[in-house]
Amino acid sequence: MQDLDERSVTQAALAQMAGTPDPRLREIMAAAVRHLHDFAREVNLTPGEWLQAIAFLTEVGQACTPARQEFILLSDVLGLSALVNLMHNRTAPEAATQTSLLGPFFREDAPVLAAGAAIFNGSNGKEIVVHGQVRDVAGNPVPHATLDVWQANPHGEYDLQYAGPPQVDMRARFTTDADGRYHFRTMQPPGYPVPMDGPAGRLVRLQGRHGMRPAHIHVMIAAEGFRELVTALYFADDPHIESDTVFGVSRALLVRAGPDPAAPCDLPAVRYDFTLSRASSAGSTRVGADPARIVKVAE
Ligand code: BEZ
Ligand code: FE
Repeated sequence: MQDLDERSVTQAALAQMAGTPDPRLREIMAAAVRHLHDFAREVNLTPGEWLQAIAFLTEVGQACTPARQEFILLSDVLGLSALVNLMHNRTAPEAATQTSLLGPFFREDAPVLAAGAAIFNGSNGKEIVVHGQVRDVAGNPVPHATLDVWQANPHGEYDLQYAGPPQVDMRARFTTDADGRYHFRTMQPPGYPVPMDGPAGRLVRLQGRHGMRPAHIHVMIAAEGFRELVTALYFADDPHIESDTVFGVSRALLVRAGPDPAAPCDLPAVRYDFTLSRASSAGSTRVGADPARIVKVAE
């Protein structure tokens, strides 16, 4: 029998897991153990700190409900969701529109509206029109693509955060026309904080961070034969555009609402043309998911 020490315990754990039949699980868990042990050695983790971390993760789990996924939020504020997203982008067969995070406020089955419809229910703010075309990488229009859009209202809240009975607001689905064009009317959203009332938000505060996301409109586009695009358009003039708490912004996704003679109606306009990649076999492009699909409602 070998007496384990601070180094050999890592080798012993790796050796015991070496027979894991699933090769990908073997690879992932071996790397996780190596890095976790190295991390504990690097910071000289004390038993008290380790218990604090366990209590924190327990709280993260307990904060999850069918409407809230605190583990995804934790992954987001640590930059891990953005990293997984960026690595996944490399697997696209063609260079398409930059992706961004799905976030916790996406819901399946948003109402399908006619082109040009408003996605707000009487919210007052600055009304704008968002329009453009969905194309393939050769520039050909993609007709009949489904565009899911969702965003915060002028008070910085998603409909899922509204007090009172559930309602659908600031979200809809549109279908591109024969020329791949889309347009809808909305309220220019403000920036808003990520949910700060749980353990992930507490961590963000302890780190002296502001917790804000710059103003954005989420867009998800699906079309037959194309890779699903999950992205967002970010308003370039937002004060937090350089310091997004969840690292979702990229230069290619910056927009401004302004005068646009080519806009389909007389409102300040955001024009954005999306490019889709052909589909690949690389699985879902979504970093994040509707929490209701992850957290089972208790029977
Ligand atoms: C969002 O954009 O909706 C979002 C993304 C990550 C964390 C919190 C919010
Ligand atoms: Fe958002």
